[in-house]
Amino acid sequence: MIRGKRILLGICGSIAAYKAPHFVRLLKKEGAEVQCILTPDAHLFVTPTALATVSQRPCLTEFTKSEDGTWNNHVALAEWADVFIIAPTSANTLAKMATGRCDNLLIATYLSAKCPVHFAPAMDLDMYRHPSTLSNISTLQSFGNILLEPGTGFLASGLEGKGRMMEPEEMVNSLKIHFELAQQLNGQHWLVTAGPTYENIDPVRFIGNYSSGKMGFAIAEALAQSGAKVTLVAGPTELETHHPNIQTIKITTALQMLDACLSVFPKVNGVIKAAAVADYRPETIAPEKVKKSSDTLTLQLTKNPDILATLGKMKTNQKIVGFALETENALEYAQQKRINKHADAIVLNSLKEEGAGFQTDTNRVHWVTESGCESWPLLPKEEVAKLIVQKIVSL
Ligand code: CTP
Repeated sequence: MIRGKRILLGICGSIAAYKAPHFVRLLKKEGAEVQCILTPDAHLFVTPTALATVSQRPCLTEFTKSEDGTWNNHVALAEWADVFIIAPTSANTLAKMATGRCDNLLIATYLSAKCPVHFAPAMDLDMYRHPSTLSNISTLQSFGNILLEPGTGFLASGLEGKGRMMEPEEMVNSLKIHFELAQQLNGQHWLVTAGPTYENIDPVRFIGNYSSGKMGFAIAEALAQSGAKVTLVAGPTELETHHPNIQTIKITTALQMLDACLSVFPKVNGVIKAAAVADYRPETIAPEKVKKSSDTLTLQLTKNPDILATLGKMKTNQKIVGFALETENALEYAQQKRINKHADAIVLNSLKEEGAGFQTDTNRVHWVTESGCESWPLLPKEEVAKLIVQKIVSL
């Protein structure tokens, strides 16, 4: 999958840069072309000569070549690349990438890049967990950049914690998966739903649920990063995505979500319904604010249409993936939902499992299909999303 691919490798001033020549060697062994770009301080941690030797290309740092003053064209570099991987990404470069600062060749190339950008943060644990670093990482992800999650372990400072750059072997593997998925998903169009729905009671009140939308947004981004076009139908959530492959339709109620889904369903290759749709809505919406009067108040509710089941009945050759949130008899109920809603797979999560479900950054899910149930470990939602995308191409 990597053979013949043009890989631009950005290297920042972080101690993990000492692993860069090994990473380049692994990529070259796979048959890739590799062009290294260093930030001005990266040479303190790895020599440009070593990188030029293993990549068989001159290593670039400056906007111009020192010998004759000709331009190292960042736009041409960005256009040349099939993928841009910045490893290690220092805290400083993360901040520049997130805010659009542009004071070196690496960053100028990043701002010009239209190819997928992967970034592998590497820094000490306190720098990594600083709110500004975490917020910069989220910002980059919302731009569609792909996080190569750092590992936890022994750090150069002597401390132990999260902040180790992903190992070169794992990064090669991640790139292989990226190219494999891109080959299958390029040109495909997927519908993803995310977040809760709110069902209005009166002009100031609603019935809702605690869904944050994180899982659905992560899936939309993972699909888009793999080259698919995505229509994301999102209920009320604070999340935003700016990936150019994602078109977001914002809705509030289940009926609006149904309309939005029906409008795109005939055109898509598949749908992933991660939204937590309200099963019932108030039968009538009071036109004015309901005033407090008696000691009790009864709301008459009426059933919402089951969007997943509606799409399941309509499907021609679309693949359908539903979610199920259960508190008991989880697998049995998930299999029933898969069959009743004509879904190809159900992503099952149980609220009883720690770190799973609503309002968390992690999820522990089970992939349920006709052939059985595959359980995945507790993972960040972005990683769960990547696994789901890998699975849907095999459906
Ligand atoms: N779903 C839907 N429309 C609804 C309710 C649910 O499309 N009105 C979808 C959800 O997006 C999810 C799947 O159906 O993909 C299962 O949702 P879940 O809430 O677990 O199950 P329900 O079918 O609502 O059944 P119950 O609440 O009784 O478990």
